[in-house]
Amino acid sequence: MKIVRTVQELRENVRAARAGGAEHVGLVPTMGALHEGHISLVAAARRRSGLTVMSIFVNPTQFTEASDLDAYPRQEAADAALAEAAGVDIVFAPEASELYPEGFATTVHVGGPLTQTLEAAGRGPAHFDGVATVVSKLLLAVGADAAYFGQKDAQQLLVVRRMVADLGIPAEIVACPTVRDADGLAKSSRNVRLRDDERARALAIPRSLEAVEAALALGETRSEALHARAATVLAAAGIEPEYLAFVDASSLAPVTEVASPVLCAIAARVGTVRLIDNTLLTLPRAGGEN
Ligand code: PAF
Repeated sequence: MKIVRTVQELRENVRAARAGGAEHVGLVPTMGALHEGHISLVAAARRRSGLTVMSIFVNPTQFTEASDLDAYPRQEAADAALAEAAGVDIVFAPEASELYPEGFATTVHVGGPLTQTLEAAGRGPAHFDGVATVVSKLLLAVGADAAYFGQKDAQQLLVVRRMVADLGIPAEIVACPTVRDADGLAKSSRNVRLRDDERARALAIPRSLEAVEAALALGETRSEALHARAATVLAAAGIEPEYLAFVDASSLAPVTEVASPVLCAIAARVGTVRLIDNTLLTLPRAGGEN
């Protein structure tokens, strides 16, 4: 596995791999602090790609709180070892000045409802500008045929899909399922910052999503009633969500009833750590037919 720091080195290596027969190049964009969620993205990339590139870059432009950027875990040596064991071919780990050199003045802004709700409300609209800008730069730098994203960041996935379609970037955006610990907590680089008692309380987040799924399975389709189920579970753990939303899974418009695929999405602070999670709700088919 190679670690490269510059876009030029990256391009040279990708070009050489393509010349050597790698037809399909997959990109797994990360901010490091790798966990099984990232490794599952690598596995998905490797099933398709002759060359798997992972970017490790804590992107400053997507952080709206300086304290969150400072506290974001950085562990490049451990990440490189995990990436190599997972079968990554190239790690692209640039300095911030490589992606944002002096004079950098361009922002990729995805407009419309996708970037006005949920995470944008909590973290500020600049968050998705930072994500869209860095992901477009990474896709162009790698010349990737496909890039792999986790469903845990469901809104990010929709924003990236919109951006790639609108700019005509010829990369397929592949969604991969959320990976969870055995107790249900969604894997996140932020989990390491939870104290033991906070981690135990954080379990109310997946439990609340399970409560919603269970109520839906019993026939409750009204968002308000489903919201109450989840809120009760969260409140019992002393968690006041930043948002607990039932939105259309494609447009993110609020829904009052679960009919078409609906995203139930949660953001909540447990202690000082901000966590997000979601589940995709679809109506059980009448009669259980396929
Ligand atoms: O999901 C992330 O880790 C980041 O938002 C991404 C996609 C690597 C862009 O910095």
